[in-house]
Amino acid sequence: MNYKITVLPGDGIGPDIIAEALKVLDLIGEKYGHSFLYTEADLGGIALDRHGEPLPQVTVDTCKGSDAVLLGAVGGPKWDTLPGNKRPEAGLLGIRAALGLYANLRPAVIYGALKDASPLKTEIISNGIDIMVIRELTGGIYFGKRGRLDSEGGEAAFDTEMYNVSEIKRIAKVGFETAMKRGKKLMSVDKANVLESSRLWRQVVEEVAKEYPEVALSHMYVDNAAMQLVRNPAQFDVILTSNIFGDILSDEASMITGSIGMLPSASVGSSKLGLYEPIHGSAPDIAGQDKANPIATILSVAMMLRYSLDLTDEADAIEKAVQDVLNSGYRTADIASPGTKVVGTKEMGKLLREHM
Ligand code: NAI
Ligand code: MG
Repeated sequence: MNYKITVLPGDGIGPDIIAEALKVLDLIGEKYGHSFLYTEADLGGIALDRHGEPLPQVTVDTCKGSDAVLLGAVGGPKWDTLPGNKRPEAGLLGIRAALGLYANLRPAVIYGALKDASPLKTEIISNGIDIMVIRELTGGIYFGKRGRLDSEGGEAAFDTEMYNVSEIKRIAKVGFETAMKRGKKLMSVDKANVLESSRLWRQVVEEVAKEYPEVALSHMYVDNAAMQLVRNPAQFDVILTSNIFGDILSDEASMITGSIGMLPSASVGSSKLGLYEPIHGSAPDIAGQDKANPIATILSVAMMLRYSLDLTDEADAIEKAVQDVLNSGYRTADIASPGTKVVGTKEMGKLLREHM
């Protein structure tokens, strides 16, 4: 089969890690008889430099015409002084919205060989961690009405948390479908003891649950969830939550695995077209130095194969190669520990391909 992939390398280490990810994808093509056609487009700082805006229309059009989008990372000190709507990150929010990607899937997994990388005590993670955080991505307070006004106490500012039934329903469905493919356990996280939007959220999730009798659904308040993630993370399988709570909890969940350079993400919507990217940023401190860990981006390629292209064996092959290369003792600097062999971005990519 032929697949059209839009590639958005972005800024900083983006181009370094994307280069390795594409070589992995080429090898998958060779081994399994697929051809991946890449079209590169600009997003973020590089788009500001070349087109004067973080998300040029041509980038949106290119993404829309493809089967999947692979993104490196955007941003850097060069663009930090620009106003909010002109910053590279505005391009990221913009492309998610333009493609209707309302669900963000972030696995937090501890690879056996990396157990000592977690900041948690060994006894807490002795049974491993394998959590999938599903965050609503195009609604809630990040997209609600905001503004400034005068008040008795001086200038005031407000943001609005709002969800409607259809927004909650579609993200809940992603939650239940994902739970069906995993441990059939779903934890919906909200703040229903205080927020009206959370009460509607809970009500709709309960309603959708009737279509999935096999899934064990529970609810947790977000403050407790933040606590439970460090107290007993093994109790979680799939976590379903709103945009802002998901932003915070998915960062927390990823850090308990100890390795920002290891974790991929997928943003998906109602069509097969999805956007795949590592969870880390553009790491300007190590850009262009052959130091970045390419594994998060390579695992994002595996998610792309699994969710957008339905190529499960191919995705499995990449994930297994990652396990194998870590078991063989090779590490990039960010995940190194005493006794392991430290390699650069390119060498790590090469080792992975050899294991495949
Ligand atoms: P960051 O994730 O870029 O870096 C945090 C730390 O982790 C740095 O010490 C960096 O060297 C290290 N690191 C990150 N990825 C790594 C990798 N693959 N291998 C080895 N080490 C890695 O976050 P930071 O420093 O807060 O932000 C830098 C820039 O990235 C900013 O402009 C920020 O706005 C942007 N950013 C972009 C994101 C995206 O494109 N999705 C997400 C987060 C930040
Ligand atoms: Mg965040």
